[in-house]
Amino acid sequence: MPRVAYVNGQFIPHRDAAVQIEDRGFQFGDSVYEVVALMDGRFADETGHLDRLERSLRELRIPMPMSRKALQIVMRQLVRRNRTMNGGLYMQVTRGVAARDFKFPKETAPGLVMTLRHATFDIAARKFSGKKAITVPDIRWKRRDIKTTLLLAQVLAKQEAIDAGADDAWMVDDKGLITEASSSNAWIVNGKEELVTRPTTGNAILKGVTRNAMQALCWKEKIKIVERPFSVKEALQAKEAFTSSAVALIVPVVEINGKKIGNGKTGPLTEKIFDLYMEYAAGLNRKQERWSED
Ligand code: PDD
Repeated sequence: MPRVAYVNGQFIPHRDAAVQIEDRGFQFGDSVYEVVALMDGRFADETGHLDRLERSLRELRIPMPMSRKALQIVMRQLVRRNRTMNGGLYMQVTRGVAARDFKFPKETAPGLVMTLRHATFDIAARKFSGKKAITVPDIRWKRRDIKTTLLLAQVLAKQEAIDAGADDAWMVDDKGLITEASSSNAWIVNGKEELVTRPTTGNAILKGVTRNAMQALCWKEKIKIVERPFSVKEALQAKEAFTSSAVALIVPVVEINGKKIGNGKTGPLTEKIFDLYMEYAAGLNRKQERWSED
């Protein structure tokens, strides 16, 4: 069963899928994207991802390539054509194709690409396989609230982590405060059992959809969340640490800059939040129709 991609109105074999060489996403990074988890045939936090997509587009004055309803139909068609129940859907909207010129082109239609990658959600393995992180300077532009494909700083950060024998990089602003991880939001649990994460004000980080869902779950469970920036020093002294993102979900971080976090294993609060999120995702699923079986 070959993988199928969607490119500007057509479903085509993934290996043949391509964009025009003067696509502004390719030339300028003039595009935005979303990654949505497909769990057991349904999309997790679909509304949150589509709301953020629309917001990112609005901020950059790129029109929606089609209505939200039409977009959702394409998403479901892609799932059906790939015959998969679990994985990650990637969608990218670019300002479109035009002769290379920095200013916005006139009358260019936005481009839309979607791919689906199969992945299994081996929950126990995910919950207990702690990752190692290093800290790196955050060298990104200042509008990190917009989910653009300008990802070079994150590519370099991640590679620096891999080269150092770690799994991921936590980025640090010029005040020594953690912004977020290379492709996820960063969280710590401090000595007072508080869950600490950076606020999304000031455009310093991406407002993670998984982060939002987790926050709501924690409020409901009366788990104390403190939204404030935290330093590298605080992270190193934390009892627990983890990251949150679509598809990777909640990832325990058990070592930062070579220093063990807590006892070097997935902490109890991380485990609890992981379970709460999985329960929540399963609950969302019960409420949604299962599209891949239509
Ligand atoms: N990244 N922060 C950054 C910089 C991210 O790139 C992401 C997601 C997040 C988490 O957002 P969400 O919970 O909505 O996925 C935070 C995606 C998964 C990626 O680039 O592949």
